[in-house]
Amino acid sequence: MTSFSPSFCRLLEKAKKASLSLAPGCCSAPSNIALIKYWGKESGNHQIPLNSSLSFTLGGFRSHTTVRPEDSSRFFLNGAPAQLPARMQATLDELFRYLGQQTPLRIESVNTFPTACGIASSASGGAALIGALSDALHLSDLFSEGEHTLWLTEGARLLSGSATRSVVSSAFVVWERLPGRQETQTYAIKAHEEFQRLAHGVVMIDPRPKAISSSQGHQGAATSPFFSLRDAAIPFLLENVQKALLGGDWPTLMMCTEHDAFALHAIMQTMQPPVCYLSKMTTIFLAAFITKRHQHRLRALWTIDAGPNIHLLCPQQDVQALKDILQMMACDLRTSITVFFNNASDFIAIGADRVAALPDTPIQHITFTPT
Ligand code: DP6
Repeated sequence: MTSFSPSFCRLLEKAKKASLSLAPGCCSAPSNIALIKYWGKESGNHQIPLNSSLSFTLGGFRSHTTVRPEDSSRFFLNGAPAQLPARMQATLDELFRYLGQQTPLRIESVNTFPTACGIASSASGGAALIGALSDALHLSDLFSEGEHTLWLTEGARLLSGSATRSVVSSAFVVWERLPGRQETQTYAIKAHEEFQRLAHGVVMIDPRPKAISSSQGHQGAATSPFFSLRDAAIPFLLENVQKALLGGDWPTLMMCTEHDAFALHAIMQTMQPPVCYLSKMTTIFLAAFITKRHQHRLRALWTIDAGPNIHLLCPQQDVQALKDILQMMACDLRTSITVFFNNASDFIAIGADRVAALPDTPIQHITFTPT
């Protein structure tokens, strides 16, 4: 049985009739950080999330991917031979079977940031792969704009759930669960001018890949006693975050985002089997940050995905105040704090010309040292 939704199958039928040939293709796609997180998916291989989610696009944290037909299938990650994640491989195999093509592919992907440590490399990686295939098959010539968007959002979702939010050209994106359906909707949402380009940085606690992948973690979500509590609150949180984004309401945005990050980690730590993605330094940093933020009335919020590293977001005009606080924290905690600041706000770029036009240094590394 296919894992593809009926609308995705209709697209593939159209592509199959056009007897497309595969040329080299490339794409660069951003990662995203969920403010309201996706955690848990339905059983089966349809990649249907148990809850809707909402994210901010991280223009500087990117994957650059090229694909080209070759004698045998090979995957290279950051220049070294690697194994394509099993679901990505299975989705590609199914896709090409559907299209009636058996072309082996050489796939090369390079990330501008450390892989698999809670900065959603599967989001940018999945988005860049589906974009590179679009380029290789010249799908934008064949499909209408709406069809091409569906190819990207549905295709990315099948490769990695959070990737569907990385193919939409918008600062803020909603991925909506459609109960009872084997497909979902992913779309741009509007925000107040001040929030369009939030400053973002990742406090790099540990750049090593995590031991338990998000894909494994999703499987236990519904076993947590807190799952249904969070699930019931999701519509309220999504509505309030969207209103806060539109109205430029920082306190509500901060409260809802941090509430959901705490709820996510409570679920992770109480599901079967439990997983703790946080390290000792994550909690030390967080406690100190919350105290300092309060003392200095700083407009900055934190969130954490499936990893020990901490994402910080603030309005652009508050960046210097945030840096001052990070410097104070380095002194108080007597430790160096390294932050990867997002330096770009570019969305998905499909095709060599668009990829070449992207900035060279999309991430700025700053280390705050005790003085
Ligand atoms: C905690 O999208 O990595 O980052 O669909 O199995 O590939 P798969 O999982 P993935 O899960 C992301 C989980 C999260 C929250 C989020 O990004 O919404």
